[in-house]
Amino acid sequence: MKPIIIFGVGQFAEVAHFYFTRDSSREVAAFTTDDMAMAPQQLLGLPVIPFSEIAAKYPPSSYDMFVAIGSSAVNRNRRDKCACMKSLGFTLASYASSKSIIWTEAIGENSFILEHNTIQPYTRIGNNVIIWSGNHIGHHVIVEDNCFITSHVVISGGVTIGEGTFLGVNATIRDHIHLGKYNVIGAGAVILKNTRDEEVYSSKSALRHPATTHEQDEISA
Ligand SMILES: CC(C)(COP(=O)(O)OP(=O)(O)OC[C@H]1O[C@@H](n2cnc3c(N)ncnc32)[C@H](O)[C@@H]1OP(=O)(O)O)[C@@H](O)C(=O)NCCC(=O)NCCS
Repeated sequence: MKPIIIFGVGQFAEVAHFYFTRDSSREVAAFTTDDMAMAPQQLLGLPVIPFSEIAAKYPPSSYDMFVAIGSSAVNRNRRDKCACMKSLGFTLASYASSKSIIWTEAIGENSFILEHNTIQPYTRIGNNVIIWSGNHIGHHVIVEDNCFITSHVVISGGVTIGEGTFLGVNATIRDHIHLGKYNVIGAGAVILKNTRDEEVYSSKSALRHPATTHEQDEISA
């Protein structure tokens, strides 16, 4: 396994460094960014290299890359940077937590799967898919490239998640439906039907007036 360079200097980059160094056979050699004006010279004791110099100083023959960009522009920024890395010749590294239960080997490059995920058999996870902690991804699910699944999402069996889709915390997806490409599924949304491409879906807000909460407290007391 080659050591890796992490693209990014934000919180996702720090989290990626944490998991790769503690729970994988990968060593992290450096960070890189194309915004040196906003970057520190070092991060977590490692050098931060201008992206324009990375292939010369850390060539793809000796180093792999992990792109640690969040869901900005509905995952398109991370998608585009992964394509850029591949055009430079880098292989993209993936991470899967030893504390998740993963019953598929069909997981693409630049994927990042944190702890307490259950991924059932016959499921396919595409390239550049970020799966944060504590999700259920049922059997025969297809997660297409460039998706971001946050936390405590339930994806029922046989669902297809279209390319680039973002799933907010606690979203619930009914079995055997198809989410479109580049959807934003809001926190707590319950999706029962197929969705169209490039749309935002959220549930009616569950926020309650404080007086209502107070009344409820009195009743239960
Ligand atoms: C759906 C979402 C994308 C909308 O974002 P937005 O356009 O910035 O919306 P706003 O925060 O301005 O809220 C607009 C209105 O929608 C409501 N709303 C926002 N998100 C909602 C949600 N998930 N469910 C129900 N109502 C929601 C707000 O209460 C607000 O209502 P109001 O106008 O009556 O006050 C976003 O709220 C969301 O759910 N993102 C996912 C967050 C998440 O899971 N983060 C995890 C990161 S690890």
